[in-house]
Amino acid sequence: MTVTSRQKSNILLYLVATLVVGLATFGFLKFFGNQTGVHYFEGWWRIPWLVLLSLLVYFSIRIINALLFDFAFRLRRGYEAPTLVRNIFTLVVFAILFLLIFNRVYAEINLGALFTTSAIFGVIIGLALQDTLGNFFSGISLHADRPFQVGDVIVVGPQKHTGVVEGITWRAVKIRTFQNHIVLVSNSMAAKEAIEVCPRENVNARLVFFGTLYSDSPAKTIHVVREAIREADNVSQKITPIVRIQSLGDSSIEWEVKYWLQDYAKYNDTDALVRQLIWYALRRANITFAFPTRTLHLERKTPESLVTGPQKEIIERLSAVDIFAPLSVEETEKLATGVVRHIFAPGELVIRAGDQGSSMFVVHNGRVQVQVSDGGKPRAVAVLSEGAFFGEMALFTGEPRTANVVALEETEVLEIGHAAMKHLFDTNPDLAEAISWTIAERRAGLQASSQQPVQAAEVESAGLLSSIKRFFGLG
Ligand code: CMP
Repeated sequence: MTVTSRQKSNILLYLVATLVVGLATFGFLKFFGNQTGVHYFEGWWRIPWLVLLSLLVYFSIRIINALLFDFAFRLRRGYEAPTLVRNIFTLVVFAILFLLIFNRVYAEINLGALFTTSAIFGVIIGLALQDTLGNFFSGISLHADRPFQVGDVIVVGPQKHTGVVEGITWRAVKIRTFQNHIVLVSNSMAAKEAIEVCPRENVNARLVFFGTLYSDSPAKTIHVVREAIREADNVSQKITPIVRIQSLGDSSIEWEVKYWLQDYAKYNDTDALVRQLIWYALRRANITFAFPTRTLHLERKTPESLVTGPQKEIIERLSAVDIFAPLSVEETEKLATGVVRHIFAPGELVIRAGDQGSSMFVVHNGRVQVQVSDGGKPRAVAVLSEGAFFGEMALFTGEPRTANVVALEETEVLEIGHAAMKHLFDTNPDLAEAISWTIAERRAGLQASSQQPVQAAEVESAGLLSSIKRFFGLG
């Protein structure tokens, strides 16, 4: 058996302590001998005898201590006995045995009286050892409470020291931080402060955060992330990780991943691994990490004639509509300011047959189908695509809508109201005539599809023109 340097220094410490105890006893007895007139040193040999017996007792206690705590305790409880408990055991047993030996060697000294007369020393010692005793008793209460054990991760103290508990001594709780530093938090401090304990045997959870773009599907993100991390190293298989939306942020969907660890002491590494796996999983699934973005809408004051962007598109679309071909550039621009854009999903009804209508529409993007009811079932009369117009019949005649108009695909239409058209009629008398021709043709188409007698387009148009003029109050 080799003697370690630590054991050597311990032995040295015991020898020095014994010497000090011997000297203290010598001085103490000499003092009281002078005070009381009793000569305690008549048998001076009793001092080395006392020291020898004390040493014997001390080493016996150490052996019992080792047997009791290193073997019996470990066998029964399965873990090492706390140092503080061992030390208290040694101290108490040694104090009792020392007093017994002392009483035997110096039978003439009344220890009881001695203790009572030296109460003042007790007070002085008590005051001097106030902090030490505070720590000592806090240590005892920590042991009695057992809030944590060696190997648990704890967060303790006002500075939130985090680390693995290595032991509890007379004075302090010793933790090893994740930077491999030793932090000693005094027992009295540990007893006062709230301690966050992550027990070694417990499946402790961690939270990891990330953000995705609003355009990415939440259901897909949940699935992808959960599958990516559930099998990761040190992630507990007992509980499936939870992936959930934490908040809807300014520029991203904020996510929270909650997962449980097998070994909590390795949470830094596991957090990092989880983040890494999330990155790769999102990359494979084409889901984009969000980063702070801001959309700025700048209002630009442009000269009236300088029309750009969406307004320009509308002007181009209107000028391509055949009935608006006679309009001047200014008139088309003016008309464009009065139109309203609407978007319809495939299958949505833009116009319902029989409704009253006071506006017409130009197809801007997409396609619509004109349908009439044939024995309760819809029958297609025409399909109108970009640049075509519809809804003019009800607008110009004041009659109810003649057909259903349904979007065949995602379709954008430009709505032109009664007021905008009246203004155009005032300055373009030919416009009413062009429209009356279209209406006449379409009516003919409707009549043909319903097998009604078809009226000549010219006759129809002439009648229409006068009714349009009447309806719009034109001269
Ligand atoms: P309105 O009657 O206001 O509402 C239904 C619209 O369908 C109608 O105006 C026309 O614009 C359009 N429409 C009706 N019949 C036809 C057709 N034969 N060809 C093209 N469009 C038509």
